[in-house]
Amino acid sequence: MELTIESIRSGDRERHHALMRQAFGGTDRFDPSAPVSDPDKFVCAYLGDQMVGSVLTFDFAMTWGGRRVPCGGVSGVVVSPQARGRGAAQRMLAEALRRMHEQGHVVSALYPTTASLYRRAGYEVVGLYRRTRIPVAAIDAGGDALEWREVDGSSEVLASLHDDLAGRLDGWFRVDPQWWAFRNHRQAADTSVNRYTYVGSRAGADVAAVQYRYAKADDFYDLEVEVLAGLDVEAVGAALGLLAGHGTTARHVVAALPLSLLGPHIPQLQLTSTASDWPWMLRLVDAPGAVAARGWPTSVAGSVELDITDDACTGNAGAHVLELGGGEAALLRGGSGRIRVTIQDLAMLYAGCDVAGLRAACRLIEASPTDLDLLAAACVSNPSIPLFF
Ligand SMILES: CC(C)(COP(=O)(O)OP(=O)(O)OC[C@H]1O[C@@H](n2cnc3c(N)ncnc32)[C@H](O)[C@@H]1OP(=O)(O)O)[C@@H](O)C(=O)NCCC(=O)NCCS
Repeated sequence: MELTIESIRSGDRERHHALMRQAFGGTDRFDPSAPVSDPDKFVCAYLGDQMVGSVLTFDFAMTWGGRRVPCGGVSGVVVSPQARGRGAAQRMLAEALRRMHEQGHVVSALYPTTASLYRRAGYEVVGLYRRTRIPVAAIDAGGDALEWREVDGSSEVLASLHDDLAGRLDGWFRVDPQWWAFRNHRQAADTSVNRYTYVGSRAGADVAAVQYRYAKADDFYDLEVEVLAGLDVEAVGAALGLLAGHGTTARHVVAALPLSLLGPHIPQLQLTSTASDWPWMLRLVDAPGAVAARGWPTSVAGSVELDITDDACTGNAGAHVLELGGGEAALLRGGSGRIRVTIQDLAMLYAGCDVAGLRAACRLIEASPTDLDLLAAACVSNPSIPLFF
């Protein structure tokens, strides 16, 4: 029987739930009252009348150079065991990319369980979702004192403070209300989790928020931070301080925060360790759109002549000139195509991966020292990523 790739058919949400449960080991029951995405956000594979695969996309905005870059978040890529190994995942991804492009998403991001599937579709690993384990006693809790109040987990203040911070850090997502709705529903349904949400205010203004849950550890508990946001360094410190106040029963705080946020509040950073790492991948869906949408260093000006290979989104392929100046950049058709790059190389450059390292890995082989210096200065970034989806 032929595989067909299409949007989810009406009445198939429970089947989708079953596929997800089987693939990712969930135990929760199908909940017909859960918020739903539009059918065209589900790209599904059907064998006759049976759904055998699915890919779900979200409308995110990712921050790059201080600007919002429309981003399709790809999640829940699944094919049922009896239909694996015949290209269903690849075909669903190709259709998801086509739709994301149509919907104006210029980049796409995902957390892979196998990079090869996504690399073939033009994604590249550009960083790690790192959760850092911090001994509670290592947190310097002596900073700013805020007025804390407990709020509901679905508090809009939590989402808005997170969104504010996400607008200032490369790689962070500004998630759409639909995604928060999914998350809030899931959290509310799972009463087995001991979760708390607090908002902190200073002089009457909300400046920090933290959401965390208790997780059983060898010795007492660890506090798993789900969201932590602050409008300034003192506010972030105060949120960590609130967590540090659990020191009699919790041994560690585990959080996906970059060193720039953690460092000022943990004098003995060497006491922290990596709790877990998960790679994340980026794709430039519409390369000229992605280049135009982000912010670039204002001090960098010049041009580089590229020949881009992109088998999955052929609109990106061919000779282009990357022109930079005044904090803007454009990827324009034309030029000599002197430096051969794959769309995966471009994803790495976009995310600030070490240009010398790329060269050492025999990528960008035609680039001159001047080209490399320009790219290194233009693409400087150290992105982190705060939420798993
Ligand atoms: C991963 C998964 C979606 C692949 O579905 P599929 O339809 O069998 O994949 P395809 O036939 O389109 O294979 C495309 C490529 O994916 C990669 N791939 C597929 N199965 C893989 C596996 N078990 N291990 C590693 N890579 C795998 C390979 O690169 C493959 O290309 P190749 O066959 O030329 O080597 C499927 O195995 C699955 O549902 N797994 C459980 C859930 C999961 O891990 N989802 C991914 C979340 S990011």
